[in-house]
Amino acid sequence: MQILVTGGLGFIGSHTALLLKEAGHDVVIVDNLSNSKLDVLQRIKKISNVDYKFYKADVTDEAKMKEIFARNKFDGIIHFAGLKAVSESISKPLEYYYNNVVSTLCLIKCALEYNVERFVFSSSATVYGENDSPLKEDMKLGLTTNPYGETKVINEKILRDVSVAYPHMAISLLRYFNPIGAHPSGLLGEAPNGLPNNLMPFITQVASNKIKSLKVFGNDYETVDGTGVRDYIHVMDLAKGHIKALENIKIGVNVYNLGTGKGTSVLELINAFEKINNIKIPYEIVERRKGDVAACFADATKAYKELGWKAELTIEDMVRDAWNFEKDYK
Ligand code: NAD
Ligand code: UD1
Repeated sequence: MQILVTGGLGFIGSHTALLLKEAGHDVVIVDNLSNSKLDVLQRIKKISNVDYKFYKADVTDEAKMKEIFARNKFDGIIHFAGLKAVSESISKPLEYYYNNVVSTLCLIKCALEYNVERFVFSSSATVYGENDSPLKEDMKLGLTTNPYGETKVINEKILRDVSVAYPHMAISLLRYFNPIGAHPSGLLGEAPNGLPNNLMPFITQVASNKIKSLKVFGNDYETVDGTGVRDYIHVMDLAKGHIKALENIKIGVNVYNLGTGKGTSVLELINAFEKINNIKIPYEIVERRKGDVAACFADATKAYKELGWKAELTIEDMVRDAWNFEKDYK
């Protein structure tokens, strides 16, 4: 298949583009480089020793996207492009709603006009809000606490409505849990433009002395050691989940959790990092972060039953690969 990968130079998109090529698909990447660097294109070429077609374009630019659809014959779309920093979304709500919603509208319009029937969307576990874990796909969605999360809920709704009006479309909504880790080569990983927002890149930047110490947001949750529990998933496993989702896509809308089903606390992640990489991570316990839930982990059985996919890599693999990337990253 020829697959359009939007946001394909970002963290999850770049790993997925690599694996799509390995699985024998053709890949066309569109990215506006708002949170990635062109250098990622050289890195994926180097790892796989093949070329990738790339357009520097904004997915919200309908005229430009139509031009790209006219020049290529896509069999499917994986839509990663989006803004994803929770705190930034609170201070810049309009940018988040515009970018994350209009990009999907543009893409779906192009898909309908150019008869592309497969559409895979990057959703998030954030749509479950305060539901109790393990989280299941058929749970009623929770209240979101920020514009970023709301854009995911809105996108899911738009795609469900599209499926009603255009029943020939095959749409997969993939709800990711907490992707971390990096490609085993050490050449590809999470390299955000600016300060990181999430726990793992913070830990690696403390390890490389870019940041002095880590703040642990609260140790009074009802969890194993009082710190927040999340379902960390290796980005390589997550990327594999996309290949399975695309190859097994069905008509209508299907939702899948992509997680491991296993929760790990902040302190457990820090301990695993210290043990595997033999580096001390100084940290201090501070106030809870607003909007955080105590625990968030998947029931990942549906993806296994219907797609034949399950996460295989461990927390040890994740912290080793994350550091392997960060320690040499320039
Ligand atoms: P990322 O920021 O590394 O990648 C997103 C890419 O999209 C970037 O390269 C950015 O330049 C590009 N982009 C953004 N807006 C664009 C636009 N309008 N046109 C073209 N390109 C655009 O993020 P990621 O971690 O790889 O996340 C990919 C997707 O998965 C996002 O939609 C994100 O919301 C979702 N997601 C991520 C996580 C996570 O923890 N990383 C969790 C759940 C869901
Ligand atoms: C966050 C977002 C979620 C988004 C996901 C992936 C919030 C409320 N949620 O999830 O919408 O889909 O990222 O982008 O921000 N922690 C620390 N110190 C830090 C950073 C994090 O203790 O410096 C803790 C958090 O309190 C949490 C855990 O580490 O318990 C994981 O945090 P993070 O990596 O930001 O992910 P989420 O909060 O799960």
